[in-house]
Amino acid sequence: MTQLSNMAVRDIETVIHPYTNLARHRETGPLILNEGRGIYLYDDKGKRYIEGMAGLWCTALGYGNQEIAEAGAEALRKVSFTHAFSGKSHDGVIELSEKLKEISPVPTSKILFGTSGSEANDMQIKLTWYYNNARGRPQKKKIISRIRGYHGVTIASASLTGLPWVHNDFDLPIKNVVHTSCPHHYRFGTEGESEQDFATRMAAELEELILREGPDTIAAFIAEPVMGAGGVIVPPEIYFDKIVSVLNKYDVRLIIDEVICGFGRTGNWFGTQTYKIKAHSISMAKAITSAYFPMSALTIEEDLYQAMLDESRKLGTFGHGYTYTAHPVGCAIALKTIDIYEREKIMDHVKKVSNVFQTRLKALGNHALVGEARGVGLIGAIELVADKKTKRSFDFKKAVGPQALNVMQDLGLIVRNVQDTIAFCPPLIITTEEIHAMFDIVEKGLDQMETHVRKEGLRDA
Ligand SMILES: Cc1ncc(COP(=O)(O)O)c(C=O)c1O
Repeated sequence: MTQLSNMAVRDIETVIHPYTNLARHRETGPLILNEGRGIYLYDDKGKRYIEGMAGLWCTALGYGNQEIAEAGAEALRKVSFTHAFSGKSHDGVIELSEKLKEISPVPTSKILFGTSGSEANDMQIKLTWYYNNARGRPQKKKIISRIRGYHGVTIASASLTGLPWVHNDFDLPIKNVVHTSCPHHYRFGTEGESEQDFATRMAAELEELILREGPDTIAAFIAEPVMGAGGVIVPPEIYFDKIVSVLNKYDVRLIIDEVICGFGRTGNWFGTQTYKIKAHSISMAKAITSAYFPMSALTIEEDLYQAMLDESRKLGTFGHGYTYTAHPVGCAIALKTIDIYEREKIMDHVKKVSNVFQTRLKALGNHALVGEARGVGLIGAIELVADKKTKRSFDFKKAVGPQALNVMQDLGLIVRNVQDTIAFCPPLIITTEEIHAMFDIVEKGLDQMETHVRKEGLRDA
């Protein structure tokens, strides 16, 4: 057993860690990271790591950006808090809303702010329900999301999330949330089925679900352009076209969850643009502030805004809001972050370096442990399998994914695993040299893992 430091022991005795095996944590203790610069983080012993996951898919401009820090400090000095309740406002929220309307990939009337991706998606559900009540369609309330989709962890957004470990023993999902098929061709395509035919089948399965549930009861469909936390699942090119045709047929509101893909991750400002999706609304968070402040936002289409106006006339107020809705420090930081994206032409940079990223990533597909290497822009993943030919997964009890993660971490790279899938999502500012350094570590780590897998007989059923 590793010797735990004093801080590690204090952590174990005081902190609850999200998405952590709390029992195992008592033995392994935390990785304590107190400093960061550029794409690098440093642990409490001074060891340097490439942050291959941009924190939690969020630190787009990397660590230690003094311009953003200064924008935040200046806002704090000016007015540490004002709110947006009862018509109060400040310059920052007005300017940021204008900016988000300008860059939004969907027709947008207004912007509503929250502090997390979960809250943004929670508001999407609340507003969809509110909208249909306002329009006199109280039965149109069900939201469709997808198996392996990730939309957060509040009671409603966890219900949208299509991962069993987010539901189990939390008494979720809530009613009025139903899940449809996951567009992962490698895992769910049938023998000999082309990506095109697979996408056609996904749309047909969605339509069957809508008909089974009753089209009059289906209010909205929510999807990430590329599924992130479900394992970086890149849909077939034609998938969204086919899905949108079905949704339009039954008057279903399409919400695109841009919490990971937004602000450059897929090589355009939004994944909605990469996949040419005609949506009604998007949710944003994470890179909106490059994670220098917790902030999220969603776009409100004109139709929805008109319904909200009617409700205010009827009920006397819009009965929703968080203390920290449109926090002035968050607004100042988001404005500065977006300003840097534009000034530094970050989208062009992503387009340029993502060629190297994708080439190195896809090359991993030749490794004995890798069943599929997939990605787009500066996001990607490798799925580790026991048998490349049959795509047989490892027994999950053998914890191959978590072990691979530890190997990479020892080699100085922080990545994330979703079961046996290893995800990569570095800060957008990563350079070509840094991408090579990152994948050099991954290759070395995979070779070490292959030796370990053989030695321990982990492929045995
Ligand atoms: C696509 C997506 N939506 C929503 C969320 C939830 O955001 P938060 O963790 O800020 O609540 C996440 C978090 O990773 C996400 O990836």
